[in-house]
Amino acid sequence: MPDALAPLQNRHLEALERRYAEVLGALGYDGVLIYSGHPALHFGDDQHASFCSYGHFQHWTGQAGLTHSWLLVRPGQRTTCFVHAPDDFWHLPPSLPDEGWTEYLEVISGRFETPPAVKASRLAVIGDIDDDTARALGAERNPPALLIALDEGRVRKSEYEIACLSEANRMALYGHRAAQQAFLTGASELDIQLAYLKASRQRESDVPYGNIIGLGAHGAVLHYQHYANEAPVSRHSLLVDAGHRYRGYCADITRSWPGPDAAPTFAALITRMNDIKQQLVAALAPGVEFVALHERMHQLLGELLVESELVSASAEAALESGITRAFCPHGLGHLLGVQVHDVAGRMSREGTALPPPPEHPALRLTRELEAGMTVTIEPGLYFIPMLLGPLEAGPAGSAVNWPLVERLMPHGGIRIEDNVAIATNSVRNLTLEHE
Ligand code: GLY
Ligand code: MN
Ligand code: MN
Repeated sequence: MPDALAPLQNRHLEALERRYAEVLGALGYDGVLIYSGHPALHFGDDQHASFCSYGHFQHWTGQAGLTHSWLLVRPGQRTTCFVHAPDDFWHLPPSLPDEGWTEYLEVISGRFETPPAVKASRLAVIGDIDDDTARALGAERNPPALLIALDEGRVRKSEYEIACLSEANRMALYGHRAAQQAFLTGASELDIQLAYLKASRQRESDVPYGNIIGLGAHGAVLHYQHYANEAPVSRHSLLVDAGHRYRGYCADITRSWPGPDAAPTFAALITRMNDIKQQLVAALAPGVEFVALHERMHQLLGELLVESELVSASAEAALESGITRAFCPHGLGHLLGVQVHDVAGRMSREGTALPPPPEHPALRLTRELEAGMTVTIEPGLYFIPMLLGPLEAGPAGSAVNWPLVERLMPHGGIRIEDNVAIATNSVRNLTLEHE
């Protein structure tokens, strides 16, 4: 079947070639070799860790699983992809998808545990490369100025990339619907995970990040990483943060559900969190400072804490005394692309570091929004004993309704996360358009 995305992908690749030519020219390189990477061996064992190829390799090919492969970009010459596909009776060599890039680029298949020979007067090599390999190539390894410039080239997505992100969202939502259904039938975390994978047509090693499937209090563990085999007796809540990868591009979606044993306040908090998420999505536009939008999230959380009677002080006081941060310690969102936490979120367009404000150290996106960026918006509210304990003991603790916190504790937390593409005069919610 012809690849319907090929025209868009060709334009994406043309733009990449132009961008690379500019960057390499400005920095005085006549070529760059990008290594896909390879999986690590477990120490003292013959088994490998899971693997995901380097983001800049995926930016051209969308291939997250090609190991020991290389991409050679030289301005004025056809870009070449050296695909490691050795004859092997233990494993099936990779076969390339029917996608536009396989025609656009020159593809050479063979054995590439060692890099291809490259003629260049000043070559850079980027990726997870050891000293010997860089020396044998006579190349500069991971030059910081080059990496910063290439990372910046991933910040504004092409039309092709947004189409891939949209498709990743569409597929992920099959999983989210199945997860919710499994929860309704009383499934365990493991069974919810299996339902998610089946419905979204993914094996576990292919998901863009470890699916977070938290029943009850596990929803308070921000990156909860286990799948309990048994369903809990009381079913207060489910939090599912799970995505899909399409041609390299990641969906990152979170949904929270009240269970049959949920307190009415918890169900009401989920509804309100959805409103907050919508309000924050509506505020996205080029020129908006994401740090300010993150602070806006904290204002809205302050109002929610007051209106739900979790806090008796004013919303402003809840914000200023750090109460909202104890209930939501993560950032409002991040850039999204071939990496779920995509690169350059804490860099200015000119390449200066933009660290997060000290009171919001987890914020991964600190720059001004621009047309072409794709971001997540993921407000949340959690009952995390490790953060609420010190809050209770500190000066702000007297404003918190601890008996209500105690009742909500078994519900874990709430997060609602959508993926949004920002254009010059509009935003496109890639998640809601498929929900
Ligand atoms: N799934 C990780 C995150 O939401 O950033
Ligand atoms: Mn997420
Ligand atoms: Mn996220």
